[in-house]
Amino acid sequence: MMCHRDLLAVLALLLPLIALVVGNINAEWKPIPSTTDPGVVANAQFAVSAYDKKEGKHLVFVNVVEGNYTRGASGNIYYQLIVKAKDDRFGTSNNYNTVVRDYLDGRKDLIGFW
Ligand SMILES: *[C@@H]1O[C@H](CO)[C@@H](O)[C@H](O)[C@H]1NC(C)=O
Repeated sequence: MMCHRDLLAVLALLLPLIALVVGNINAEWKPIPSTTDPGVVANAQFAVSAYDKKEGKHLVFVNVVEGNYTRGASGNIYYQLIVKAKDDRFGTSNNYNTVVRDYLDGRKDLIGFW
């Protein structure tokens, strides 16, 4: 059975991990270096194509309007971007908000698109 001392030991191990995760979320956002930065554009293009695939849409990336990024504790970069995209079927363009996680190993995750 776990006694208080064990519980404290577990907490002592967990607290730095929790601090890391919270630190990740509260990390400072900085403006992207440029809307035409190849790394930024690659993430914006990924966001549009991942959204198309997921939602069966036909949006085509046009350009990055603005955005911010932050580096997570694990070294992954989070991008919060406003991306202009054109609907291939209706010919209309809109600005979309998107959040992408760019992993150190090159993988990317679409976190949000709206
Ligand atoms: C980026 O940060 C600026 C300053 O906080 C903010 O005004 C802007 O809305 C942010 N842009 C995005 C896409 O989150």
